[in-house]
Amino acid sequence: MTNLRSDNNAGLMPEALVALVDAASGDAIAYGDDAWTARAAARLRELFGDDVAAFFVATGTAANTLSIAALTEPWQRVLCHRHSHYNDDESTAPERIAICRTVPVEPLGDPTRLTEADLLPHLAGRRGDVHEPAPGVLTISNPTEFGTVYAPAHVAALCELAHAHGYRVHVDGARFGQAVVHTMRAENLSESAACRALTSDAGVDALSLGGTKAGLALGEAVLLFTRSPMAARAAERFPFLRKSTGHLLSKHRYVTAQFERVLATGAWLRHAAVAADAAERLAAGLHARGRALAFPREANAVFVDLPPDLDQHLRSRGHSWYPFATPIGARARLMCSFATTAGDIDDFLADIP
Ligand SMILES: Cc1ncc(COP(=O)(O)O)c(C=O)c1O
Repeated sequence: MTNLRSDNNAGLMPEALVALVDAASGDAIAYGDDAWTARAAARLRELFGDDVAAFFVATGTAANTLSIAALTEPWQRVLCHRHSHYNDDESTAPERIAICRTVPVEPLGDPTRLTEADLLPHLAGRRGDVHEPAPGVLTISNPTEFGTVYAPAHVAALCELAHAHGYRVHVDGARFGQAVVHTMRAENLSESAACRALTSDAGVDALSLGGTKAGLALGEAVLLFTRSPMAARAAERFPFLRKSTGHLLSKHRYVTAQFERVLATGAWLRHAAVAADAAERLAAGLHARGRALAFPREANAVFVDLPPDLDQHLRSRGHSWYPFATPIGARARLMCSFATTAGDIDDFLADIP
């Protein structure tokens, strides 16, 4: 009975739990002026670079919409993949918090990743007057919602094009550890080199760095790369936006103690690699059984077009997953977490006739 619904269904990484227990007693200054928050921010600077301004919030939706709000004005546009989480799954948070006009971009080739060619029609030939929404932010998800990863060179090319047209670039990294693990392996990079190659070195202005889906109880970090003047300005605005929208956590240390511990021990990537390896085992097993994947497996999810009779058979055996409603070529999303074991995957595969 394998649960492949979502990494949101998994419990806590042991290191996060221990960090919570260690921080459980005693007093600390509230609202982020505590030692755990300072140490978590310092860890993030070690990994991503000295120019990082780090802020912490509870949810991925808050991280995305607040960072985009901080980078924009209400008369600007936000370009995103047609089926990004930002466009399809954050209700009206983009309208209520980021406020800008959302412009969904349909990919022409690879259905999972935006390219420069996809963006160009939305960038070139604009009037540039006050009557149309002005350039704001390009937001991409890395990894994508479809389990693929933008390579550093691809991110850099998108940043160059977006910046040339007056846009800032935000990365939704709700599962960023997956992008880092994939990039370390694909490009033979260290942890810090991969983190920087995918963000600051590529020209990214802001990153939503996920904690919850990686195995924290809750918590996401917003990283603003202040070498960019617009990101530096966003870092000044962010605390006010966060408080005024009800997203400033008083007992900050229970988010940041977890971040500090899993970054300091390398647990965030060790566990991300476990989830990625479980997904790879699943992908290989499906392939061996003649089931073609809809997209390459580069993160912790596998997308496959299970025929209805097989779907029903596997569900009747007690396995579970979410149907994939997005109309870009698969009916099932099978997602692994840090807690998915090789045995879980083998049990699932054994039930495929
Ligand atoms: C790619 C992506 N971004 C953002 C989010 C938002 O996270 P939350 O549900 O914590 O608001 C999710 C949640 O599943 C996600 O998959």
